[in-house]
Amino acid sequence: MNDMAKKSNNAAALLVPFLFSLILVLVIAISLSYDKVNRILPISTVEHQEQEAMMRSSTVSDESSTESEGCDLFSGRWVFDDERRPLYSGLQCEYMHDEVACEKYGRRNLKHQQWRWQPNGCDIPRFDAGKFLTRLIGKRIVYVGDSLNRNQWVSMVCMVESFISSESKSMIYNGSLMSFRAKDFNASIDFYWSPLLLESNCDDPVNHRKTNRIMRANSIETHARQWADADILVFNSYLWWKQPGMKMKVLHGSFEDEIKKVEELEMVEGFELALKEWSGWLELNQNPNAKLFFVSLSPTHVWGDEWGAASNQNCYNETEPIHREGYASRGSDHKMLHMVENTIMKMRRKGLSVQLLNITQLSEYRKDGHPSVYRRYWVNLTQEQLANPTSYSDCTHWCLPGVPDAWNELLYSYIVL
Ligand SMILES: *[C@@H]1O[C@H](CO)[C@@H](O)[C@H](O)[C@H]1NC(C)=O
Ligand SMILES: *[C@@H]1O[C@H](CO)[C@@H](O)[C@H](O)[C@H]1NC(C)=O
Ligand SMILES: *[C@@H]1O[C@H](CO)[C@@H](O)[C@H](O)[C@H]1NC(C)=O
Ligand SMILES: *[C@@H]1O[C@H](CO)[C@@H](O)[C@H](O)[C@H]1NC(C)=O
Ligand SMILES: *[C@@H]1O[C@H](CO)[C@@H](O)[C@H](O)[C@H]1NC(C)=O
Repeated sequence: MNDMAKKSNNAAALLVPFLFSLILVLVIAISLSYDKVNRILPISTVEHQEQEAMMRSSTVSDESSTESEGCDLFSGRWVFDDERRPLYSGLQCEYMHDEVACEKYGRRNLKHQQWRWQPNGCDIPRFDAGKFLTRLIGKRIVYVGDSLNRNQWVSMVCMVESFISSESKSMIYNGSLMSFRAKDFNASIDFYWSPLLLESNCDDPVNHRKTNRIMRANSIETHARQWADADILVFNSYLWWKQPGMKMKVLHGSFEDEIKKVEELEMVEGFELALKEWSGWLELNQNPNAKLFFVSLSPTHVWGDEWGAASNQNCYNETEPIHREGYASRGSDHKMLHMVENTIMKMRRKGLSVQLLNITQLSEYRKDGHPSVYRRYWVNLTQEQLANPTSYSDCTHWCLPGVPDAWNELLYSYIVL
């Protein structure tokens, strides 16, 4: 070995332990500061940190099994846990969105913040913002989809932001792209508005209420450019295809063409087309190291008679989950869910792995989790509406803290394990 090589070897030999201890110190500092501000959550998954082993012995868990191959994370029950929930304060989260800020908008019964999802056969790992951010070093995660996906993204931002000092974090709202950055970790947690996945006349992040819906065939590239470099992608698309009585217009060509060639499809056929183009694009272009997720449909609670309330009731005034096992709303379109499932299976056969975040059933139980009237409305409500709160209740989105935190804990378990 010549001198030069020896020198650089020596330097490397010094540098490696130095960097290693630096990282170690950083990680320890992070986990300590985090534990100070956060409640201790139960854990029975095998963890390598002593600290967690200690916590484990002090928490009671009736599930003795560990996270195993065979465990279905999505079948289970909600457990009331006011010691360890919520994961953050809705009033203090700097990046909370007003349409899901239920406490700020007057919700007094906050029990909905205190339920924890408990799978039947195993436990979900304790959410640890430090560990998550460490996993995200140098990475970009993008949530791509509609307002429910944005709901989940805001939840994730709130789950980590209190852990980062104000000078080390930032938020940029730039049209369809919203980007939260944790500078010390060189990490981004982004949301990209694209409710139909393909290009459409609903792509304006603010002005997207249209009386008809037009999407452009072969147009996923336009959007994909914005998220193609992500290391973790979390897609959803459902709600915008669920418009009773509405057809989907499919444009062949460009929105600027003078003579437009437009074909009309049933909504669900449009969804199938979008899934096909989405999966086709990923199969050809996607970075094989990226982790891909698709979030299943988020149920609504608009017909009280489905859970034994009066038929003119909806989620308004609801403060308890539904405890009837397997409860499902007739509004949830399982046919569309199966289309997603089939698409994912086809992608797997072609070597691309996509994980379905099957949050449908667990969210079905949560009639208590919606904002109802406790949110900001962007239009002024009439006296008539105000006199009848059920008439303008939002039973689609979810209060934060709340149900989407559990969706993110499931996502987290796939990312950190
Ligand atoms: C989603 O999870 C529920 C509960 O485990 C299960 O009944 C349903 O079949 C799952 N659906 C899909 C598409 O995997
Ligand atoms: C930050 O992360 C990006 C990828 O998201 C990478 O390209 C870049 O080199 C990283 N910068 C530093 C300073 O590590
Ligand atoms: C906003 O997005 C546009 C187009 O994608 C980009 O050119 C611009 O640099 C972005 N602005 C900021 C502040 O990030
Ligand atoms: C909501 O609940 C309150 C208290 O239980 C009750 O007084 C009120 O009548 C309920 N409102 C509706 C619309 O059910
Ligand atoms: C809504 O009401 C507020 C106060 O009552 C008023 O200032 C505002 O102009 C109204 N906005 C619209 C869009 O009517």
